[in-house]
Amino acid sequence: HGLPRLVVGQGVKRGDVQARLIGDPAAHHDPFPLHAEVRAMGPLVRGRLTYMTATHSVVKEVLRSSSFGVKRDGSELPQALGAMLRWSGQGGPPHPIQPPSLLAVEGAEHTRYRRLVSSVFTARAIGRLRGQVQAVADELLDELAAGPSEVDLVAAYAARLPLTVIADILGVPASEHAQVLDFGSRVVSSLDIAVTWPEFRETQLALAEFEVWVGNHLDRLRRDPGDDLLSQLVVANEGGQGLTERELRSLAGLLLAAGFETTVNLLGSGTRLLLQNPDQLERLRADETLWPTAVDECLRLESPVQTTDRTALQHTELAGMRVGKDAHVVLFLGGANRDPAVFPDPDTLDVGRPNAADHLSFSGGPHFCLGAALAKLEGEIGLKSLFTRFPDLALAPGAHRRETRVLRGYDRLPVRLGTPA
Ligand code: HEM
Repeated sequence: HGLPRLVVGQGVKRGDVQARLIGDPAAHHDPFPLHAEVRAMGPLVRGRLTYMTATHSVVKEVLRSSSFGVKRDGSELPQALGAMLRWSGQGGPPHPIQPPSLLAVEGAEHTRYRRLVSSVFTARAIGRLRGQVQAVADELLDELAAGPSEVDLVAAYAARLPLTVIADILGVPASEHAQVLDFGSRVVSSLDIAVTWPEFRETQLALAEFEVWVGNHLDRLRRDPGDDLLSQLVVANEGGQGLTERELRSLAGLLLAAGFETTVNLLGSGTRLLLQNPDQLERLRADETLWPTAVDECLRLESPVQTTDRTALQHTELAGMRVGKDAHVVLFLGGANRDPAVFPDPDTLDVGRPNAADHLSFSGGPHFCLGAALAKLEGEIGLKSLFTRFPDLALAPGAHRRETRVLRGYDRLPVRLGTPA
């Protein structure tokens, strides 16, 4: 979940691509022409604030390169956001994208941390969640079928499915689900540009409350572990060999934010894309084996995380240019996903695209999304079950995009459900 570095401030000329991406309402709606502009300028472009790239091969190279790393202590951030995060680092609650977050550490420290987490977050463990995800989807769809015929799909389904699944992974008892859903919706945008003080303070307040809750929750799991993934991590860490208490708390916060702020966008954008492309929906109805590819194709076209970034750890060469130590490179994941050199006819939804899975929506290299398999499972079950239960599903007016730049998705998506099957 990329750190927002593109904050409009002093020194940014009007017309600069980075400033337009942040400030131009048209770019908020559709940033892809600007990504194409960046690509046309070259595989690596020196902007006024940072380097940037929307070229698939270069984005991939930076993510995998040991010459680049994450630098997440807030000092590298321009203006307001940097000041806020530096302030929060001094006595504030741990932030999902600040150390000791898994996203913000690197090298040997990251390898150790990631290995411990991966030991319970295995492909098999995620596969076993299939039944659980299906049960959550079915329950939500039952509720929809019993309610009004027009609903906001985000509030009623796209947000609730991933949050309920992540609450199960964190071993949250049913009686506290509502509270965790509330934390989840209030830390909303902790992974994005929180430029106003009121928004930032609300996030900090929610994180501080979450911190108290999660400390008590971890104590409870230590006393009485369940069969959830967080309990397994807690148990695996008894004896001091594993994650520290700080790391466990940070991870729980990251899983809540990561599991919730991103998958909701996959479900919302995916629903809209499929309804706007009825021929592709027909293909899926005729051949259900296309669903996994369809989910990758939705991730490719509407990357829920649009950008991330890396910092050069040493002087190095990239795309034929010399890049100095500490140079900062913004990686347009959503732009790389529409690079015509890799994806012919890149703006078209093709649920049978042979290389749809080559998108970079889950990043790459050491920080490749830990929840990718789960996110795809939720996307597949979530979308397929929705379209199966409501075969006449249709868009209603009033869709609204989230006011975020790093994250891309809808915060309101009204639909008419039609008669349930
Ligand atoms: C990391 C995207 C769902 C947990 C990442 C990164 C991206 C990403 C782009 C890496 C950022 C970077 O390299 O700077 C997504 C998308 C999702 C999704 C698009 C849904 C469609 C999930 C879910 C979980 C999760 C469901 C957990 C259950 C994580 C964690 C990391 C991560 C823990 C940090 C990994 C590390 O730094 O080693 N995700 N994510 N994500 N994601 Fe996801």
